[in-house]
Amino acid sequence: MPEPMHSSTNRQPEIGCTKDELDTPALCIDLDVMDQNIRLIVEACRAAGVAWRPHIKGHRCGAIGVREVEAGALGLTCAKLGEAELMASSGVRDLLIANAIVGDRKLARLVELSRHADPIVAVDHTDQLRPLAAAFAAAGRSVRVVIEVDIGLARGGVEPGDAALPLAREAISLEGIDFVGLMAWEGHLIRIADRDEKERSIHDALRGLLDTKLRLEVEGIECPIVSCAGTGSFQISLAHPGITEVEAGGAIMMDVFYREECGVTGLGNALTLLTTVVARPGPGRAIVDAGRKTLNVEIAMPHVCERPGVEFERMSAEHGQLKVAPNAARLSIGDRLEVVPGYADLTVFLHDRFYGFRDGRLAEILPIAGSDASQ
Ligand SMILES: Cc1ncc(COP(=O)(O)O)c(C=O)c1O
Repeated sequence: MPEPMHSSTNRQPEIGCTKDELDTPALCIDLDVMDQNIRLIVEACRAAGVAWRPHIKGHRCGAIGVREVEAGALGLTCAKLGEAELMASSGVRDLLIANAIVGDRKLARLVELSRHADPIVAVDHTDQLRPLAAAFAAAGRSVRVVIEVDIGLARGGVEPGDAALPLAREAISLEGIDFVGLMAWEGHLIRIADRDEKERSIHDALRGLLDTKLRLEVEGIECPIVSCAGTGSFQISLAHPGITEVEAGGAIMMDVFYREECGVTGLGNALTLLTTVVARPGPGRAIVDAGRKTLNVEIAMPHVCERPGVEFERMSAEHGQLKVAPNAARLSIGDRLEVVPGYADLTVFLHDRFYGFRDGRLAEILPIAGSDASQ
């Protein structure tokens, strides 16, 4: 009887290898480009006098979170408690969970998290706030809380203005709660194509957030934190008076959506997917080994680098179908293509590691947390 095969045999590439030696599909980061993006974001935030608290939902990688903090981020933003636990286990303390934490099990985990980190939790309803306060008061601890304000996205959040007042009053009255301010996300405005209209719309929306802060301050309620913005808006939102921190996260990697649909400029494509041409069924068609299980196509189609006339046309689970223009350079079975993901966030979570390259050589393999981080 032959020995059972270990599925990872011959799979782990050697540090120092080139991209040609990697098996595909493989999700790669150009570490120099990512570090440069991080530096540029930190500089832009410093110039505006605003802190950077990057969202980590798009990388779910402790080592990258630490890198962001070491480069100058005040702390990190997480979508989920599981993501915050991941970042705390990497040693980051100042963590905004931009979501409500609901349910006894999660509250117990949050109390435990607070023994290792200093989380901030978003609320928009007293039914989230009271159990949160009870869990922390029972543990003899307290947790920082921000109120989420809905400035037009129509997801979570209280209406701008007076609607935040009763919740804020209750928050400051409750044992176990340390009320620290407001957060909002202008995600509904990031695709506006006309730059002037986009600026106007974002500033109008953020005015609702700052008006809310003013309303609370008039009542004697301090709001040291006013957090907002993502990759598609931070270059505009940074200039809004009164914003204390921005959450732009995907900007360190970039993708087709941010560049083409949100008009983000000045940052490089750090994230690419390496794929192999596995079939040429006809002169106008090529098939690569990256389909929907490897590349998300829901938000934007991926873009093939340095291959004019070669475009993604259709995806099935494990096949990517490319349209090859008659004047495109020769494309053969076995050729490797580098692809910028359409939307990095929803692509990264399909993978369990990044291959980090520097000067064309594999420098680091960076683990990506799995679905546990979604809990
Ligand atoms: C609360 C919050 N902040 C910011 C962002 C933007 O994140 P990113 O900069 O990674 O696009 C999002 C989601 O897209 C979000 O939900």
